[in-house]
Amino acid sequence: MTLPSIFQGKLKIPVIAAPMFLVSGTDLVINACKAGVVGTFPALNARSTDEFADWLDQIKGALQEEDAPYGVNVPLSAHRRARLAEDLAIMKSREVPLVITSIGNPKEIVEEIHSYGGLVFHDVTTLRHARKAAQAGVDGLILVCAGAGGHGGTLNPFAFVEQVRPFFDGTIVLAGSIGTGRAVRAAVTMGADLAYVGTRFIATKEALGPEGYKDMLVSEATDDVVYTDAISGLNANFMASSLMENGLDPKNLPKPKAQFQPDLPDGLTAWRDIWSAGQGVGLINDIPPVRTLVERMAADYNAAE
Ligand SMILES: Cc1cc2nc3c(=O)[nH]c(=O)nc-3n(C[C@H](O)[C@H](O)[C@H](O)COP(=O)(O)O)c2cc1C
Repeated sequence: MTLPSIFQGKLKIPVIAAPMFLVSGTDLVINACKAGVVGTFPALNARSTDEFADWLDQIKGALQEEDAPYGVNVPLSAHRRARLAEDLAIMKSREVPLVITSIGNPKEIVEEIHSYGGLVFHDVTTLRHARKAAQAGVDGLILVCAGAGGHGGTLNPFAFVEQVRPFFDGTIVLAGSIGTGRAVRAAVTMGADLAYVGTRFIATKEALGPEGYKDMLVSEATDDVVYTDAISGLNANFMASSLMENGLDPKNLPKPKAQFQPDLPDGLTAWRDIWSAGQGVGLINDIPPVRTLVERMAADYNAAE
């Protein structure tokens, strides 16, 4: 176990409520941290750097010393980094405790975040990227496995975790279809320090996003999750019902024009119109408040000891 000191004694269960585009806002983050899991959100969910600063101030203002720490996700990829420099300055000024980077090389920001004592965790889907991020000096690796919501990977968690631990002595976070306390216990037993839970937190009262999205998470089955690059231009998991509601045939989807350039009918947008879910969607039967979900997961987690 390699749990950084900022998490010690603060978590009811070793879980990060994962950052999700158009889903994670201040309400979800604050309630997650108060319930005893790490609450996070993508910086780009705030529409401007000023709004991002406001969100951070709201979160910092609401959290007490005993609450779990929070985190922010920033994309490093060329097509989404327009705000990176400004958002980074804001994160440094607010001393964001955990920065989660995705797509790209985290090397460029590690030193800046370390300069104020912050931690950097990086999303990876392959062993090659895991080695590269470890060399860049990140504090944690998030192993995004097959069946994860959003841009899920293709590796099996048993193969992935066991091969990362020998070369990485930082924090290992496991992602992909984790939605119950028993699964969190399994992740820890496999060698992960923390579980990364996305899809399950969309179906909570505090998540942003339309009620129709949350209801679809309750009705959709695991077999209906479609892994395709047609919607965002990079392989990701989407609900077949959402594809069909938008007039798309899950068995005959348009090929993207290039990476991150899907060829969708006019007006249709990934994430906003076409809803993502990981394979764990089949485990979702209700839309509780975050605290109820965390308490339920903690009870399962403790019972599975
Ligand atoms: C709707 C949705 C939006 C997401 N948006 C982001 C994002 O903006 N940045 C990011 O790093 N990961 C994003 N993810 C991935 C999650 O952070 C996390 O890796 C994933 O949800 C974990 O798998 P699970 O959904 O099976 O629990 C998103 C996932 C979903 C379902």
